[in-house]
Amino acid sequence: MTKRTSQLPGFYKMTIDDRRNLVGEATGVDAAEIAHALAAGGLAAATADKFVENVLGVYALPYGVTLNVCVNGQDFVVPMVVEEPSVVAAASSAAKMVRAGGGFHAEVDPPLMISQVQITHVKDAAAATSRILDAKAEILAKANRAVPGLVARGGGTRDLEVRTLGSPIDEMIVVHVIVDCRDAMGANLINTIAEGVADRLAELAAGNVGLRILSNLCDRRCVRVGCRVPAKVLATEHMDGHAVIDGIVNASRFAELDPYRAATHNKGIMNGIDAVVIATGNDWRAVEAGAHAFAAQSGRYAPLSIWRRDGDVLVGSLELPLALGTVGGTLRVHPSARLSLEMMGIAEAGDLAAVAASVGLASNLAAVRALATDGIQRGHMALHARAVAVAAGAVGRDVERVAAMIVEARDITVQAARRALDVLRSDRPLDQQGEGATADA
Ligand code: MEV
Repeated sequence: MTKRTSQLPGFYKMTIDDRRNLVGEATGVDAAEIAHALAAGGLAAATADKFVENVLGVYALPYGVTLNVCVNGQDFVVPMVVEEPSVVAAASSAAKMVRAGGGFHAEVDPPLMISQVQITHVKDAAAATSRILDAKAEILAKANRAVPGLVARGGGTRDLEVRTLGSPIDEMIVVHVIVDCRDAMGANLINTIAEGVADRLAELAAGNVGLRILSNLCDRRCVRVGCRVPAKVLATEHMDGHAVIDGIVNASRFAELDPYRAATHNKGIMNGIDAVVIATGNDWRAVEAGAHAFAAQSGRYAPLSIWRRDGDVLVGSLELPLALGTVGGTLRVHPSARLSLEMMGIAEAGDLAAVAASVGLASNLAAVRALATDGIQRGHMALHARAVAVAAGAVGRDVERVAAMIVEARDITVQAARRALDVLRSDRPLDQQGEGATADA
């Protein structure tokens, strides 16, 4: 039995094949299966043609893994699908800092989704509300009959509520049927329920059926993640850990006071969450819609995470709604999405939400730490410089050396990298001029 670990030092320096082998050993998934599930982006055009309409082909994105993630005492190698450089590296490095303080602690609500039925042209909203509430048991039973598979899996309706929405022309009410979706994201189930009970609700309300659809503001399906990071692991070359904590708390306060900053702060959180959501075949538009509606729920757009000091420790907390599935939908047909769950050893939707939110908090920590210390460009530049060094022909240890030289020279171009490489090579004795190539290869 594999001892799952997410700590794989030197991972970024390895070849793709070696990384697959190591992740295979660390997660118990066969390296050949990893290669197979990710070949050509994991999706053949013929399969894509069954997903959506008018298909011409598939569009691939990088599939990386975040390391060092420990949630509720368990290690996860977390897949991230994202096109933005440094997001994966930043999340891995922040997760390592969080690990030094005991890892992430996550708590997940039951998978309750809201099915909305709008009823228009209601003459007497109060009377309609009381007639619907009196018929609650009947409506919930009718809704359950529309989703027998879900009920057989232990899910189904849990509650019903009626809200009155004022309108200048007439009264409008909306009925929320609260449904436990188990390990499904739930959109299809919830929409089926809304359509299944709408006529009866309109009859009870003496009104007309309006929209019948889920709400993406699934605020009964939230996840809360916290972490405690010791000052000493936050220190940088130029700032001690206590100064970094002050800087991060300052960044948090900025986001709490200013919606313009809160939007960017939350974008940093979603960098991590979306990447995991996409890697696991989930609906990232639904997650985004829910996250930002939740962030604005007080009437003022706010940050989803908060950072504070507790003595020598930085304390972070994040809360957001997260409707993720580990069954059905894209998972049925996308081998890479199935691979992602297998690599994490996750079967339950709640566990996936806990891990995705933890990676969101890690991404946020990495971003605010960088912003509060060296600024975001330095890290970006270092990564960019490595890619430029490789493009100029550097291999092995020369990649880091050349990258450092062009960053130092503030000239991150392929031409500058070629010149740096020539200097490195010409400084070596003739018989060692290939050293950079072999040292790390
Ligand atoms: C960039 O993708 C994300 C950041 O802008 C987040 C932030 O400002 O907190 C760096």
